[in-house]
Amino acid sequence: MKGILICGGTGSRLRPLTEITNKSLLPVYDRPLILYPLDVLHSGGIQDIIVISGPEHMDQMAAFLGSGERFGCRMSYCVQEKPGGIAQALGLAESFADNEDVCAILGDNVFFDDLGETIKTFKGGAHLFLKEVSDPERFGVATMDGSTIVEIEEKPTKPKSNLAVTGCYLYDHRCFDVIRNMKPSRRGELEITDVSRWYVQEQQAQATMLQHDWVDAGTFESLYRASSLVREKRKA
Ligand code: DAU
Repeated sequence: MKGILICGGTGSRLRPLTEITNKSLLPVYDRPLILYPLDVLHSGGIQDIIVISGPEHMDQMAAFLGSGERFGCRMSYCVQEKPGGIAQALGLAESFADNEDVCAILGDNVFFDDLGETIKTFKGGAHLFLKEVSDPERFGVATMDGSTIVEIEEKPTKPKSNLAVTGCYLYDHRCFDVIRNMKPSRRGELEITDVSRWYVQEQQAQATMLQHDWVDAGTFESLYRASSLVREKRKA
C-alpha cells in the first residue's frame, strides 16, 4: 500500500498564518501538524509516501521532510498547481501508486485512535473512518447499515446522520479510474466524497467508528483544540 499525504489547498481559514507556511507545517503542541497524519501512515506499515502540496511552500515541506529517512519512510513530492479539490490532488498520485491500494490522508487531520491494524488488513474496495460529531454539516456525512456505508453526502444542509467522514481514505487502485472520469462539483472541485460515493454505489464501502478524539485542524479553534488534546495526552 502507498501513502498519500494531501497538503495542498489555500488554508484560507488560517490566514495570515498560512501566508507564511503551509497549514500542515503549523505547530500542534510540540510538532508540525503533518507529523500526526504521517504517524498514521507509519502505524499502517506504509513506507512509500508522496506529499501533494501547492507550489507556495513546497520548498519548506521538502526541507523539513527530506528523503523521509529520519521518519522511517521514502518521501516523494508532487505539486498541485491549483486547488482543484482533494480528489484532484489524489489523482496526481496515480503513477506513484502504480496499481497498489492507497491510504490517502489529509495533512490537517489529527487522529487519536490507532488506525494501523485496519490499514494493514485492508482488502480492497473503500474503507473510511467515521466520527460522531455535533456539527456534521461541516463535513462529509455517512449513513450506515451495519459496517457498510449506504449513503454519503458532502456538507449537507440537512445531515441524515451525525457521522462525519474523517480525512483518512483507504481505496483500491480503481479510485484513479473514478477520478479520471469525474466532473467538478458546483464549487468547481473534484470532490473526494464523489470518489467514496462510487464505492458506496458498488456496495464496497466499509467504515470503522472512531472511539477517541479526531480533529480537522483547518480553523483557529480546531488547531488550538488539536494542540490542547495532544498536550493532555502527553501529560497523561
Ligand atoms: O477533514 C475531513 C473533511 O475534509 C471531510 O469530512 C470532507 O468530506 C472533505 O471534503 C474535507 O473537507 P474540508 O472542508 O476540511 O476540506 P479542505 O478544503 O479544508 O481540504 C482538506 C485538506 O485537503 C487540506 O489540508 C488541504 C487539502 N487540499 C484541499 C483542496 C481543496 C488539497 O490538497 N488540494 C485541494 O485542492
